Amino acid sequence: MSPVIADGRKVQYKEKNTLFDYADSLDVRVPTSCGRTGECHECIVEIKNGMNSLNPITKHEEFLRGNYRLACRTRLEDPHAIVEFATLRRQPRILSESINRKVPLDTRVIKENDNVVLDGKIIDRYRGGIYGIAGDIGTTTVVLNLVDLESGEIIQTSSFENPQRFGGGDVMNRISYDGGAFHGELKQVMLSSINFEIGAMTRNPNWKSLHRRCIYDVVLVGNTTMRDLLYGIDVQPVGQKPYKSLIQTEFENKERDSTAIECSAADIGLRVHPKANVYSGPLVGSHVGTDVAADMLAIGMDKAKSPRMLVDIGTNTEVVIGDNSGMVTASCPAGPAFEGGEVTYGMPGYDGAVEAVTIHEGKVSISTIGDVEVEGICGSGLVDLLSELRRTETMDELGKYSNDSNQFAFAADREMYLYRSDISALAQAKSANYSGQFIAMRHFGKSIEDLEALYLAGGFANYINADNAKAIGFIADFPTEKISKVGNASLEGATIMLKSVSSRRSIEKLVRKVEHIELETTPDFFDIFVEGCLFKPMPQEIF
Ligand code: FES
Repeated sequence: MSPVIADGRKVQYKEKNTLFDYADSLDVRVPTSCGRTGECHECIVEIKNGMNSLNPITKHEEFLRGNYRLACRTRLEDPHAIVEFATLRRQPRILSESINRKVPLDTRVIKENDNVVLDGKIIDRYRGGIYGIAGDIGTTTVVLNLVDLESGEIIQTSSFENPQRFGGGDVMNRISYDGGAFHGELKQVMLSSINFEIGAMTRNPNWKSLHRRCIYDVVLVGNTTMRDLLYGIDVQPVGQKPYKSLIQTEFENKERDSTAIECSAADIGLRVHPKANVYSGPLVGSHVGTDVAADMLAIGMDKAKSPRMLVDIGTNTEVVIGDNSGMVTASCPAGPAFEGGEVTYGMPGYDGAVEAVTIHEGKVSISTIGDVEVEGICGSGLVDLLSELRRTETMDELGKYSNDSNQFAFAADREMYLYRSDISALAQAKSANYSGQFIAMRHFGKSIEDLEALYLAGGFANYINADNAKAIGFIADFPTEKISKVGNASLEGATIMLKSVSSRRSIEKLVRKVEHIELETTPDFFDIFVEGCLFKPMPQEIF
């Protein structure tokens, strides 16, 4: 009999076992809320090896694409096959620290006498606490803060891999998935996962438990697609020119006051107090969503008197330049190459990911997250590796290896390589970032020396070596002292909106001052994009 491997741990084949049973025997936690009947769709696992040795897809799994299965519906048909599967990861490296902008507590839900009051209406009797959830729904990772709304204190931060991965790695794929036969499935898996995570947060043994019904206010931000999917709004218009949410179109037609939306928890299916409010923040425009509005709030763009640039790096990178009198923004579809997709040994920032690389006299030195055995390489490691390959002239500006090889071993003992095809994917992802920053600066009429600061937000931005990122043209060539890493500014902005109703109004006003640029309509976009694919610094002169 052959072993079954779950999250790197091995167990022997046992007849009739489901993958869920194997996970149980290995103490690998798989989410569920349906009693393993195939209904809840929470137990999605990725099959790393042996897809063809499993039972055929069941009717409960027809919504899944690629190498994904439901653990509770899947069995091995060939006892001699080696099958390896992985749960969608919980608790990736949490980027919860940020710049910590202080705002006066001005919550929407308050205690009055022995009651809990929302917008002046009693919604519950006071049960010993008033709590809220602020969340950043990223295309790749979801991060949630549980906040005590009476003190403003963040009690817990939790994160998990976006479970919508089976619908594709980027927003365009997810839009197309949602337009198909399984419309609504992406919303459902996201809600199930958030509900599961909220349950886990409220039962955390390191903290006194609270009842999930004591959560009375929720702010969830995300890019336009993530936000609209979550609220069950048709996202097909976001995927086609002019790439606008239905909500943005209604706003432009003066049918609503703001692109912020809200509903009750009961309406959306969030398992907190049913009358809790679920607020999304306003969209900035097109693909630039409420997560960037949250970034702007976190870095104090509403108070900024001199122009600065914000770059929120992720599967979709967003750029905002300006101050509180006016701004431009651009959205750059970078794709998942720096976040674990499209690169042969790429992986998100979990334990075992190479996060830093140096090359000295031909010898590669690496360090991994968690200081454990190498499993792959994440974005910050890739930025270092590309920069070191250039610095040592192992690779030229075009991304070709100088010895004409097709590969370079970054972890030789694990036989892990960076291939030429990987470099092409990374060059294009890098260029999306480059082009967005370059075109936004040029459109705004300011070059690097005119801007007060470069804020790097989100994803792996906090972990990148800024000098290496500048050296390969991943970020604009700002003097290092002008660069600030602001951590998970979207989560921070969402938390500010949760703690302060007036901040919601101020960000709803501020986003009206933002002009959106469509990169592809720039006449010389193609030339800029090609230049951005080269592994060299962005020029100082952009006019
Ligand atoms: S446990 Fe609910 S679908 Fe598998």
